[in-house]
Amino acid sequence: MTAALRDDAMRGLTSQPKWLPPKWFYDARGSELFEKITELPEYYPTRTERELLRRYATEVAAVSQADVLVELGSGSSEKTRLLLSALRDQGSLHMYVPQDVSESALTSAAAQITEEFPGLAVHGVISDFTDTLHNLPRGKRRMIAFLGGTIGNLVPDERAEFLAGVRDVLGPGEQLLLGIGLVTDPAVLVPAYDDAAGVTAEFNRNVLHVLNSRLDGDFRPDRFKHVAVWDADNEWIEMRLVASAAMRAHIRALDLTVDFAAGEELRTEISAKFRLDGFEAELSASGFGVERVWTDPLQRFALVLAGRQ
Ligand code: SAH
Ligand code: AVI
Repeated sequence: MTAALRDDAMRGLTSQPKWLPPKWFYDARGSELFEKITELPEYYPTRTERELLRRYATEVAAVSQADVLVELGSGSSEKTRLLLSALRDQGSLHMYVPQDVSESALTSAAAQITEEFPGLAVHGVISDFTDTLHNLPRGKRRMIAFLGGTIGNLVPDERAEFLAGVRDVLGPGEQLLLGIGLVTDPAVLVPAYDDAAGVTAEFNRNVLHVLNSRLDGDFRPDRFKHVAVWDADNEWIEMRLVASAAMRAHIRALDLTVDFAAGEELRTEISAKFRLDGFEAELSASGFGVERVWTDPLQRFALVLAGRQ
C-alpha cells in the first residue's frame, strides 16, 4: 500500500491542479471521522440507505438467494447487518467477505460480525477494490455489495473500468447491489459535505495527516481550508483543500518539495450523484442489466440490483 501512496502522492502533488485520490483519507483516524460523518444531521446518505435496507433487505435477499455476500469498501459494515440478517433468515448465506483498504475498520467490523452471526464464515480482505476483484473468494451464487454511494467517489473513467471489472468476475446468476446517491437539491447536498460542526473538514484534512505520518511529510493541515462545491455540469460534489497562505511542504520519503500559492486548491474527492436513467445506461454499457431499483420517498438515494446482461 505504501508504494501506491507514494505513486499517488508524487503524481497528484506534481500535477496542476494538485489532487489526491480519496482512498487515502482512510487510516484509523479517517475511518473514525467517516463514522462521525454518518451521524451528522446534515449527512443524509447513510440514514437514507439504512432506511432503504431496513425496508427492502428481505426483498433483496429473496431475489438474490446469495450464499456469499462480498462487500467492497465495507468500512464498519454497520448497515450490512440488515442484509446479512435477511440473507441468513431466508437460509442461503454461508460466508461474508468484507473488503476495505482500512485495516482498522475492517478488523473491528469482522470481529463484531463474527460475534453477532454465529455459524457465518467471515473472511476479511484488505485491498484496493479497483485492482483485486479477481482474488475475492468465490461461491455458488455471490452477491457483491457496494454500498454508501462510494461508487460516486470514482471519476467516470475509473467507474466504467471498475464496473467492467466487477462484470468480468460475476458468474451467471450472480449480482451486484449498489447504493448510489441521487441528484438532489444543492441546498441539501452542499451542507452534507460541509457540516456545521466541521467534522467533514477534519476528514478532508486527514489526507494531509496521512501524508505526514506515512511519508514523513510536514504539511500543516490547520492551514488548509475545507471547501465543498456542487459542480452542476458534472453533477458531483467536489471537496478541496485550499491553502490559506503561500506555503511550502516537504515529503521526505519522496524527496519532494511541494509549493502552494495562497488560495491554491488541492482536489481530494468527488462524490458523484446520479440520475437513474443515466446510471442504468452506464451499467448497461458495462454489461449489466438492472433487475430491481428501490428509492426513498425524497428520491435522494437508491439501491440498484444488477446482474450480468
Ligand atoms: N460502505 C460503508 C463505508 C463507506 S466509506 C458505508 O456505506 O458506510 C468508504 C469505504 O471505502 C471506507 O471504509 C474506505 O476505507 C473504503 N475505500 C475507499 N477507497 C477504497 C479503495 N480504493 N479500495 C478499498 N476500499 C476503499
Ligand atoms: C464514502 N463516500 C461515499 C462518502 C461520500 O459521501 O462521498 C465520503 C464522504 N466524503 C465526505 N463526506 C463523506
